[in-house]
Amino acid sequence: MTGTLTVVDHPLVAHKITMLRDRDTESSAFRALCQEVTLLTAYEALRHLKTEPVDVETPVAPTRSPLLAGPEPAIVGILRAGLVMVEAILTLIPTGKVGHLGLFRDPETHQPVEYYTKLPDRIADREVLLVDPMLATGGSAVHALDVLSEAGATNVDLLSIIGCPEGVAAVHDRYPETVITLAAMDERLNEHAYIVPGLGDAGDRIYGTK
Ligand code: PRP
Ligand code: URA
Repeated sequence: MTGTLTVVDHPLVAHKITMLRDRDTESSAFRALCQEVTLLTAYEALRHLKTEPVDVETPVAPTRSPLLAGPEPAIVGILRAGLVMVEAILTLIPTGKVGHLGLFRDPETHQPVEYYTKLPDRIADREVLLVDPMLATGGSAVHALDVLSEAGATNVDLLSIIGCPEGVAAVHDRYPETVITLAAMDERLNEHAYIVPGLGDAGDRIYGTK
């Protein structure tokens, strides 16, 4: 089964991705750009959120109009780099509940190592958006989806800034129903499992580490 993949096609997103790719973009600008790209692409990634009609009185007339259906959506960020995306999405959904998954890639094997997990309650009842700027081998995303699945979540979509065919295939091989939204789909992985051309190490660039 082929899963759903959307690569957002918008000149503002393309412009900001180019600035993210630029090795001379400093951390403060890089963080801001990640947040801006997240806001622009979340519009697409959150398109399916369920709503329910409520009664409301405008200054002119009573009407029925949609509000997001409960319970509040969960935004789950893969640490470290996913944190900036979580903060951006909270500006769109201030009532969202936040989960954190601490994962890093082992430098030799490139396999994800889990060091922290904290998820909102009632995760099984919530629409969940998993966020991480980079979908490279897909190992981190698949591990995160495993954790969410074991916790009972059934309705999980993934938003990343840059992906590649290997990462998309890894997620859809294991979770074909996962809807993936990307701001850019790059060519491939290199021998160090970095996305080419990519933007380098997202966490290091966001936080100014090396
Ligand atoms: C980066 C990125 C993803 C992961 C993607 O995190 O933020 O979580 O790599 O790679 P994958 O698809 O091959 O798993 P990293 O492991 O560098 O951790 P960090 O955010 O703490 O720097
Ligand atoms: N993680 C990153 O931050 N960048 C890549 O290109 C691959 C994994």
